[in-house]
Amino acid sequence: MNDVKDKVKDKLQRPLRDLRISVTDKCNFRCRYCMPEEIFGPDYPFLKRDQLLSFEEIERVTRIFVSLGVEKIRITGGEPLLRRDLPTLIQKIKNIEGVREVAMTTNGSLLPKHAEALREAGLDRVTVSLDSLDDERFGRLNGRGYTVRQVLDGIEAAEKAGFPVKINMVVQKGVNDRDILPMARYFKGTGHILRFIEFMDVGNSNGWKLDHVVPSREIIRMIDREMPLEPVDPNYYGEVASRYRYKGTDEEIGVISSVTQAFCSTCTRARISAEGKLYTCLFASEGHDLRTPLRDHKTDEEIQALITEIWNRRDDRYSEIRLSHTKELKRNKVEMSHIGG
Ligand code: GTP
Ligand code: 5AD
Ligand code: SF4
Ligand code: SF4
Repeated sequence: MNDVKDKVKDKLQRPLRDLRISVTDKCNFRCRYCMPEEIFGPDYPFLKRDQLLSFEEIERVTRIFVSLGVEKIRITGGEPLLRRDLPTLIQKIKNIEGVREVAMTTNGSLLPKHAEALREAGLDRVTVSLDSLDDERFGRLNGRGYTVRQVLDGIEAAEKAGFPVKINMVVQKGVNDRDILPMARYFKGTGHILRFIEFMDVGNSNGWKLDHVVPSREIIRMIDREMPLEPVDPNYYGEVASRYRYKGTDEEIGVISSVTQAFCSTCTRARISAEGKLYTCLFASEGHDLRTPLRDHKTDEEIQALITEIWNRRDDRYSEIRLSHTKELKRNKVEMSHIGG
């Protein structure tokens, strides 16, 4: 394939650097804000096996994305560990020349079973979602009564397997904001980087209101009062999280201000859903079908040209636009469980 990386810029001059691949639309949790049970019940039409991209198709499309500038791959879901044989896919992706890093976002519950194999397959990092340390609240939040211990066991299994671990906490005012300090205290000293995420209006089913958001700067102020913080420079261009460390230590936390300080201007992320649709924004209404050309025996060059064309047309900056409207924009959006956040 030709090296066309320099040509791959979108309308706002943003290159293509990260690819987030959803490997399943299923999840064993039913987080209220992502897959509420009333909607994602027993009759919900999850994707059938032949609708999912196969590992070979994912590998091929990843290779093409890498030829267009992608360096970082993130495996997401739903819950990615529900996809059978995931380590085999990780190994295939890891072997692609030009892939610098493969990370995974998971709810952690299945890590005790899979962490070792994932590490052996070459996965570089894991990020575990955890929204509370209180069993009652956490059980309600995940909709299925999973305990905090089950996720902590997952985190410990990941650590034991040798992974650097990040923890993502989505903060919702009046729901789990009282968990901010306990979470900060708990993870301080563990070496895991805890990140607080502003609750976003993703999908169509989470009933989002601006009032539900706790601005990052309030979170930082709250923690700083008890455990003094200082800012740290970003690790790389376009890093989503703003970094802080506890003064006088190298213990780090982060905040992701997806609502109050949108970061669209440096957004280099493409997303592929489990059935092979390409989304150029987390808030896109429509994806671009890549599965049909993959299955119709189009050449790598043809698919490369198709993706380039889509990226060249990209002008998404939903979070920045939302910011200037201060309330949810009415539009039909892809569900988070479909493209993995
Ligand atoms: P690293 O910096 O590599 O650790 O990962 P990351 O922060 O890019 O990835 P992660 O999946 O942990 O992102 C954390 C959360 O930030 C996601 O779950 C989303 O809630 C939010 N987020 C990530 N990317 C975007 C984005 O492109 N747009 C918006 N609005 N939010 C995003
Ligand atoms: N706002 C912010 N983050 C969200 N996530 C899921 N839904 C939302 C939302 N509405 C997070 C999950 C996980 C990642 C995949 O996205 O908690 O960390
Ligand atoms: Fe599952 Fe993650 Fe969605 Fe919760 S947020 S339902 S764990 S995919
Ligand atoms: Fe990127 Fe869209 Fe998120 Fe903005 S809202 S940072 S363009 S994914």
